[in-house]
Amino acid sequence: MTPAGTPCRPFHALRPLFTADEIRARVHAMADTLAAGLPDDELRCVALLNGSFIFAADLARALADRDVHLVIDFMTPASYGGETTSSGSVTLKHDLSLPVDGRDVLLVDDILDTGRTLQTVCRLLQERGAASVRTCVLLDKPSRRRVPVTADLAGFVIDDVFVVGYGLDCGGRYRHLPYLAALPPDLAPDAPAAAGESRPDPACQPR
Ligand code: XMP
Repeated sequence: MTPAGTPCRPFHALRPLFTADEIRARVHAMADTLAAGLPDDELRCVALLNGSFIFAADLARALADRDVHLVIDFMTPASYGGETTSSGSVTLKHDLSLPVDGRDVLLVDDILDTGRTLQTVCRLLQERGAASVRTCVLLDKPSRRRVPVTADLAGFVIDDVFVVGYGLDCGGRYRHLPYLAALPPDLAPDAPAAAGESRPDPACQPR
């Protein structure tokens, strides 16, 4: 319930990209593919927060249905502020709680965009002695790539639209939506503000 006096902010009209049923079917198909090629022994899942939390949970449970039982840990990469500010460096807000040396790792992220996050985290896991790193992303935006990275498995390949829902957010909003939707271009983080106007939601920035 909305506390008295709290403005109830309406959600903007969103263009659905993938329905909850389509996502569920794709996640189960991904689990089939992964289960066929994963080592059975104590596979370590590294899920990147915040955006992958729902995808990682559904994927882990779909894998458990196939008798693949993950040991799940989390890492939170920090913002790098955008192409103009970055040499490509991605830092960590929160690190893993478990060591990865000698482990086969399944690295799970919400979306592969410029590629910097996946590249940096992959390298870090390898430097820490992971036996292998396999990458799995829900969404892949190849047109945005700035570094040469491909995911071993991607759920959906999409155009250059800003996506929310199913864990992905805009300033913390929309993560709870059971489907994936594209934000209208005028609300997306890269939308140019008209002269004298502020951006529709300044909190809405890619991680
Ligand atoms: P890259 O590949 O650029 O991706 O290092 C970094 C992170 O940016 C976020 N991102 C998005 N988040 N909708 C979102 O909610 C989007 O369309 C989007 N594109 C990039 C995401 O957290 C990704 O892991």
